[in-house]
Amino acid sequence: MLALVFPVLNALGGVATAILVYVGGLSTAQGMVTIGAWYLFIQSLDKFFFPMLNLSAFWAQVQSGLSASERVFALIDAESAVEQIGARPIPQLTGEIQFQEVNFSYIKEDQVLEKFNLHINAGETIALVGHTGAGKSSLARLIARFYEFQAGRILIDGHDIRTFDLSQYRRRLGIVSQVPFLFSGSVIENICYACASNVSTPEVEQIAHQIGNGEWLDTLPQGLDTQVGERGSRLSMGQRQLVSLMRVLVQKPSIFILDEATANIDPFTEWQIQQALNMILANTTSILIAHRLSTVKAADRIIVLDHGRIIEEGNHVKLIKLGGLYAHLYNTYFRHQSLEYVNKRQWLEEQPANLGD
Ligand SMILES: Nc1ncnc2c1ncn2[C@@H]1O[C@H](COP(=O)(O)OP(=O)(O)OP(=O)(O)O)[C@@H](O)[C@H]1O
Ligand SMILES: [Mg+2]
Repeated sequence: MLALVFPVLNALGGVATAILVYVGGLSTAQGMVTIGAWYLFIQSLDKFFFPMLNLSAFWAQVQSGLSASERVFALIDAESAVEQIGARPIPQLTGEIQFQEVNFSYIKEDQVLEKFNLHINAGETIALVGHTGAGKSSLARLIARFYEFQAGRILIDGHDIRTFDLSQYRRRLGIVSQVPFLFSGSVIENICYACASNVSTPEVEQIAHQIGNGEWLDTLPQGLDTQVGERGSRLSMGQRQLVSLMRVLVQKPSIFILDEATANIDPFTEWQIQQALNMILANTTSILIAHRLSTVKAADRIIVLDHGRIIEEGNHVKLIKLGGLYAHLYNTYFRHQSLEYVNKRQWLEEQPANLGD
């Protein structure tokens, strides 16, 4: 339609001018109008058509603007999926989390959690492992109160999560999602957008330098002022993860949720990420949805989920001894990431005679 507007208007304008030239010419020849008036009229016609053309282009823009705003308003008017029954102020949290007989499903027939019980102590670090679709991310989403559960209770610091002032509560949560989202802007803007305004640039720089002696900053062309591009496209996956961990470090939350990406990361970046993680874990109750061996090992307690149920729980040594799903996951997946395993493989590859083993 837009492509048609200009040619059609131009053609009409052309035809109108042609008629004016012809009829006007005849009229001047008969002496009905003077030649000067005729010429002036044709000249001023252009001045009339130009704004008309502009208006029609503007109209097309208004139309696309209207349809876009319709979508925005639909989003603003959307009913919240979760219902709060109170507005308890949350100035501080110790981070104790309890799931009591929680039932949860996204769609009615498909129960994700059934009579789910879990107690996470304040300051504890737990790792959630399990096959895909086991319900790990769902647990994290319930703690962040992104979805409504159907039965049971979730208590944070002994208080029902439904009674909280949600925006204050979420300010106490640090979340690193499976795909870290960065906004177009500089690295420091991305780190600071969530934090209170009282965090100064030197403070951010100081924290940044604590991670891997600040070497990750040297790989950024302008350090903290580097532009990250739309959705962080100019940074590597590892750098994006470091920036999202920095966000949490600066924010200093009470509860930290990490949905770890499966993407392969080189050992050096992994070491830097591990350092940032350790700094966060020291001060928070942490829920790590772990895909990397080093993350699993950082946890105080490992919880193995299967189809929304806890089937095993304990530390690494205990679970390996048990010989259940964790031991299976470890042997098929995690073990290949251990330094011991990598070294052994390298050693075997360097000795052609041993390759057959
Ligand atoms: N938004 C959603 N709507 C409907 N069903 C969903 C939604 N998100 C997840 N599910 C379903 O809930 C179940 C648990 O999903 P969840 O995302 O918690 O798995 P997960 O353990 O995090 O898996 P992964 O390791 O692949 O991330 C799955 O059966 C999944 O199909
Ligand atoms: Mg998940």
